[in-house]
Amino acid sequence: MKDIDPVKLSADDWDELNFPRPETCEFDRVVEAAISRRGFLGGVLAFGSGAAAMGTGLLSGTSAQAQAAASRFPFTPIPAQTDGTVHVPEGYEWKVMVRWGDPIFDGVEGAFDHETGGTTEASDKVFGENTDGMESFLYQGRQLLAINHEYTNRDVNLPHTDGGTPGGADDVLKLQNLQGISVIEVAEGPEGWRVVTDSPFNRRITHNTPMQIVGPAAGHDLLKTEADPTGTQSLGTMNNCGSGKTPWGTYLTCEENFNGYFGSTETAQDQKPIQAAEGYARYGIGTDGWGYDYHKWDARFDTSVNPNEPHRAGWVVEIDPTDLASTPVKHTGLGRFKHENAEVVLAPDGRVVVYMGDDERGEFLYKFVSNGTWAPGGPTEGLLDDGTLFVAKFNDDQTGEWLPLTPETTGMELAEILIFARKAGSAVGATTMDRPEWISANPHAIEVYCCLTNNRNRGVKPNAGGDETPVNGPNPREVNHYGQIVRWRPHDDDHAATTFDWDLYVMAGNPTVHDDAYAGSPNITPGNMFNSPDGMAFDENGLVWIQTDGDDDNEGDFAGMGNNQMLVGDPVTGEIARFLTGPKGCEVTGLCWSSDRRTMFVGIQHPGGDWPDGGALPRSAVIAVKREDNGIIG
Ligand code: FEO
Ligand code: CA
Ligand code: CA
Repeated sequence: MKDIDPVKLSADDWDELNFPRPETCEFDRVVEAAISRRGFLGGVLAFGSGAAAMGTGLLSGTSAQAQAAASRFPFTPIPAQTDGTVHVPEGYEWKVMVRWGDPIFDGVEGAFDHETGGTTEASDKVFGENTDGMESFLYQGRQLLAINHEYTNRDVNLPHTDGGTPGGADDVLKLQNLQGISVIEVAEGPEGWRVVTDSPFNRRITHNTPMQIVGPAAGHDLLKTEADPTGTQSLGTMNNCGSGKTPWGTYLTCEENFNGYFGSTETAQDQKPIQAAEGYARYGIGTDGWGYDYHKWDARFDTSVNPNEPHRAGWVVEIDPTDLASTPVKHTGLGRFKHENAEVVLAPDGRVVVYMGDDERGEFLYKFVSNGTWAPGGPTEGLLDDGTLFVAKFNDDQTGEWLPLTPETTGMELAEILIFARKAGSAVGATTMDRPEWISANPHAIEVYCCLTNNRNRGVKPNAGGDETPVNGPNPREVNHYGQIVRWRPHDDDHAATTFDWDLYVMAGNPTVHDDAYAGSPNITPGNMFNSPDGMAFDENGLVWIQTDGDDDNEGDFAGMGNNQMLVGDPVTGEIARFLTGPKGCEVTGLCWSSDRRTMFVGIQHPGGDWPDGGALPRSAVIAVKREDNGIIG
């Protein structure tokens, strides 16, 4: 860890360095896995019979070619790029709407400049760093956006420090303020979209904003701290990655790599109460933190003082973007893990179903089904807490089932199931996945898609809980550095059903380098190839937009793929086309539409040095993408 720059390290890499997985994968098993992979693909299990099983005309031979001739994409796909700016197809345009450091209120002193990045005092009054999940709300005729700020690029945000290591409480507070959520009103004028800085709805939520903890685990001993003996009142929401939106108009923000903020001024983890210590290992909570050094300057993050504080993070948090005075709510009913996003749908009987992924190598896919039902205008209390949490088991025959996580199935008490959901998933034999990122439901069919971004440990190492990770149906390639998108169709067209059929919508790959499974599925070509699908959202037309967070060095296995990008897929034909390329170094993440569907808001996270306005400090930004004729864009 010491000779590796923690600023540049991925969350998973950091966790693995600090919590090495057991090296149990012997050579024979790797060979066996490789053979079974060839057999799997040779049998065209995932794609051929998948088309029949899913009832969609997929990818095979003449039908795919015929369908492609009638492409639903109203643009000419663009080539891969390696430069420092954004590209969109002819007939489209893009502009920066808001960047890290831009004031979101009137009269902010000390906002961004390229020397300091802005003052600590201004840091909770500006648009935060590393834009990620976002959702759009129309309220009283105003266009509101709720936007996550996932983490900080410490070397950029604290330019006066040595490589971004905080030198005191003031630096820590600045980092805490630059993360969390922005709720902003935006409006379109002659110069394009801008933040309405005198809006009564603008709000910053940070690592220190008061939160309420509700649901079955609220008040449990594992959630109590000296500052909060009730176990129901916490501070801050952190590592806000993906997002979701409820049918009743609230925002869901999802806490992902929360573990990296905690550290210990003592070194012995085994001094923690036994349940906490077990959870620390599975969730990657170490003594050093992830370089944020909060624990050295803010005792709340020092686990030797507050061993239960990490249990109060890793949740899905609900925010009412229309009520400035509302307290964000952490829903323990949705389980605690490294949440990517939360895709909310309704079952035919009105029960609320939330699909969620745990983004770590070999972790699981979950869904929550409420006990109560929702109808427009009806009460919402308990709908994200009172119900059952399930975990996915995928069978190689393209069927699957949702396994309930209950005291009977896991041998754990309910609160413990929710606080240590990973452990509960392992107890019932859930399928280890290749890092579940965003999940999105097709608005035109009862089917759901999930990006499985990559997993270099597939077939190589167990997950953090010791579950073996041999290749399996939806995760068919060992040392998978390209990723795939799995989709499932619930039986009886009911999202609350406990069984489903699945197939792979796409297996990313590089057909210019490989001629085996690593070339990708048949809908991957030299003209649309990409790696590491991550962000994803369906538009109202039923097309699926795919954003990438992958290797952009454009060499070796990734030659010709260029910078991270956004593509659009047709769920029926399997056709995929490249729509946007980001600047070198960035991840394209976060996507929503203006309420009139004439603008697409897209997040550009951690761009490279020469984007977008020059100067010493590159700035994450939300851009607005439109058709030049102001037509509907999604
Ligand atoms: Fe924050 Fe898994 O992406
Ligand atoms: Ca992501
Ligand atoms: Ca990612």
